Amino acid sequence: MIEQNETVQRLEEFLKENLKESRLKHTYAVKEEAAKLARVYGADVSKAELAALFHDAYRNLSPQAMDMYINTLKVPARYKGNANLAHSKIAAAAMEQVFEIDDPELINAVSYHTTGRPNMSLMEKILFIADAIEPGRHYPGVDKIREAAYEDLDKACRLSLEGTVRFLKSKDAFIDQDTIDALKYLKEKDNL
Ligand SMILES: [Fe+2]
Ligand SMILES: [Fe+2]
Repeated sequence: MIEQNETVQRLEEFLKENLKESRLKHTYAVKEEAAKLARVYGADVSKAELAALFHDAYRNLSPQAMDMYINTLKVPARYKGNANLAHSKIAAAAMEQVFEIDDPELINAVSYHTTGRPNMSLMEKILFIADAIEPGRHYPGVDKIREAAYEDLDKACRLSLEGTVRFLKSKDAFIDQDTIDALKYLKEKDNL
């Protein structure tokens, strides 16, 4: 359990005001899943829960509000116009600048929860996978990722990244370099 401290209270109020019902439900499901994974893999459960609460906090903003946050929080401009990527970077910047969190483990887990990146920390992998497999998630291949999640976290990450790349390619959508590099890293690690 997270301590009911000021940060969590502030954050939960923000979530209630800014997230749609379905996104709020997803957020709390990710929190549960991240806590489960943290217990299994020996990570800090409270941190995993806090990272989960933050991860999609800025996901339902209007495009204008996203751009406003990108400007005021000094998020790189290349994320403008891509809500799917921008919300992670805005949340990470807000953790530091609005919520005064200075723990890089927490901030990086939120920052890379959409794309992944090479050599992710345990906390980064936990949030990345909790987001992908919480019980409300339904998409082709999710069962395989769920199975792998509690046996081999790297394998689960690889499967999830492969699915993301396949999906984005099928839509002819932009694929972030961090996603490409994360997948390459895990494939190479697998071949060692
Ligand atoms: Fe997200
Ligand atoms: Fe999410």
